[in-house]
Amino acid sequence: MAIFNAAADASAGAAHPLILGIETSCDETSAAVLEGAHRVRSNVVLSQIPVHQIYGGVVPELASREHLRAVVPIVRQALEQAQCRLDEIAGIAVTQGPGLAGALLVGLTYAKALAWATGIPAVGVNHLEGHIHAVLLEERRQGRPEPEFPALALVVSGGHTSLYEVRPEGAGYAYRSLGRTRDDAAGEAYDKVAKLLGLGYPGGPVIDKLSGLGEAAAVPLPRTRLKTDAGGLEFDFSFSGLKTAVLRFVQTQALAEEIEARRNALRGMEKPDLAFWQAHCSQTTLNLIASFQTTVVETLVERTLAAAETAGAVSIFLTGGVAANRQLRQRMSEAAQGLPVLAPAMNLCTDNAAMIAAAGYPRYLAGQRLAMEARAEPQWKL
Ligand code: KG4
Ligand code: ZN
Repeated sequence: MAIFNAAADASAGAAHPLILGIETSCDETSAAVLEGAHRVRSNVVLSQIPVHQIYGGVVPELASREHLRAVVPIVRQALEQAQCRLDEIAGIAVTQGPGLAGALLVGLTYAKALAWATGIPAVGVNHLEGHIHAVLLEERRQGRPEPEFPALALVVSGGHTSLYEVRPEGAGYAYRSLGRTRDDAAGEAYDKVAKLLGLGYPGGPVIDKLSGLGEAAAVPLPRTRLKTDAGGLEFDFSFSGLKTAVLRFVQTQALAEEIEARRNALRGMEKPDLAFWQAHCSQTTLNLIASFQTTVVETLVERTLAAAETAGAVSIFLTGGVAANRQLRQRMSEAAQGLPVLAPAMNLCTDNAAMIAAAGYPRYLAGQRLAMEARAEPQWKL
């Protein structure tokens, strides 16, 4: 298992309240100490990727078990790296949902127990609000001024593809949902297509890397346009048809043998490099990969900018694991026609507890408190 200490600027002496963030909604166990709304004193992330890799996706039971093992040492490590003691922590911010029920329960129960035992107040945070606050946190860390509002936020990860209008309200922020995926999340589509093509797990980074080697116009793939019906939002997404089209292409081009060979070659490889992929991918496969990525990116960019126009947004936030994608960042900036596109550093894009502490901070200041009987909210909508 890999432990990263992401984006930390630790040093002793706190001028603002210290918030301990705890995140266990999916396959990262993370704890962070934030000073006020801007200074990351520590941000420790324990990724479970090696545990789930062989299954080609996150296995919920394994995720809970790993969180259970990791949460205490990771919190301890976050406090150590922040050079602070537990009795210096002013508030605890914990992800309450959405996410995997069992995984959420580990962090939530731990946070409640810690709050009860120490008397430190705790707040429950929506994971998606956390991703949005990763953008605000990044801007503050960099010493840049508060972004212009309303902002249009695209939260795009393995579990979510959602569009929100964001504006300040009271001491915090208000969110209006403008669109979300009706089936697969964009990151999920990356992971499923990677599994289908024998590219390993997670799919995003490898597809990102390989898509520059193919011809994006070579394989025509569908861009799903949804009609707004009674149950849907104006800017909803759908990625399941794209995944099916990739499968159909694999069948018609008889790529099964190549995929099987690649899967076998990949077995036991620690970190396959570009030369490995080039040796094990035909040009047809590289073209398919490039076409898939371009279709996802163009769909995300087109929907986001249309929603931004409707919301009268004056800035765009790009956040979540898929926001690490280079083509997405570049195309969004090009297409935004002068609107600033703000995206956090890579390690704040993917799941981490600093973003949870950042989202919890205004709620802590406003006096919100997590009730002892509060439940995990696997389907919590922002
Ligand atoms: O935010 P995150 O760490 O966890 C969730 O909340 O889901 O996002 C993980 C997702 C995975 O689906 C992964 O394949 C995708 O983000 N991802 C990427 C890239 N890096 C990670 N997708 C596209 N391009 C990337 N460079
Ligand atoms: Zn996430």
